[in-house]
Amino acid sequence: MADAVHTLALVAQKGGTGKTTLAVSLAVAAAAAGRNALIVDLDPQASACKWSDRREADNPAVLDAQPARLANTLVKAREQGFDLAIVDTPARIEQAAAEASRHADLVIIPVKPSIYDIETLQATLDLVQGRATHPPLVVLNAVPAQGGRGEQAARLVQELGLQVCPQTLGSRVAFEYAAQLGLSAAEYDPAGRAGIEIQQLYEAIMRQLDTPPHRRVGKKI
Ligand SMILES: Nc1ncnc2c1ncn2[C@@H]1O[C@H](COP(=O)(O)OP(=O)(O)OP(=O)(O)O)[C@@H](O)[C@H]1O
Ligand SMILES: [Mg+2]
Repeated sequence: MADAVHTLALVAQKGGTGKTTLAVSLAVAAAAAGRNALIVDLDPQASACKWSDRREADNPAVLDAQPARLANTLVKAREQGFDLAIVDTPARIEQAAAEASRHADLVIIPVKPSIYDIETLQATLDLVQGRATHPPLVVLNAVPAQGGRGEQAARLVQELGLQVCPQTLGSRVAFEYAAQLGLSAAEYDPAGRAGIEIQQLYEAIMRQLDTPPHRRVGKKI
């Protein structure tokens, strides 16, 4: 049902890699760019919904949904005038990751540059593979400023045949402070690095979404 509404899915079987952080950050960037964005929260922990509860603004909208109802939810989202859905999924719940992968135009896999994240990538790929219509995009998240761990992680991810987004996100406390207030990092600190990096990531992802799948760079898995 990828044609129901443009759909991004944040998927990673490992916990705490930044799925919800990216979902809310990208949705706020989309709203700021004039899109009518909807976050679809498939996580029983409802982190994105709770973020929205702490938020004063009602944009982006956040909807609590069941994996088995995702296709229907996306059709309704289009009928209601949303033009971008961002699906946040839980770690370790295979049905949610599988359904989100099946219905997304682009699956984004956030990965922190740690061996624990990278060695669970295969489990995520096993769920995405055969379901996503297009190659997923790995986004390196919480990359330390020093030490070359981002480059090292990018090489390991590429060795798995995966496409790594050139825009990475640094390790920045603004993400945590913003989340506590129901804000994105860009709203919390408009001139800060976190907001700038998210804006660049948003633009890179939108370019990817607008590029026909057969012209996208990267190996198909
Ligand atoms: N780039 C970053 N820099 C610093 N902290 C970050 C960054 N990205 C995420 N975090 C923090 O890491 C923690 C986990 O992030 P988040 O909740 O987005 O991960 P998740 O993949 O959604 O986790 P779960 O699997 O439990 O749903 C949060 O406290 C968040 O604020
Ligand atoms: Mg989460």
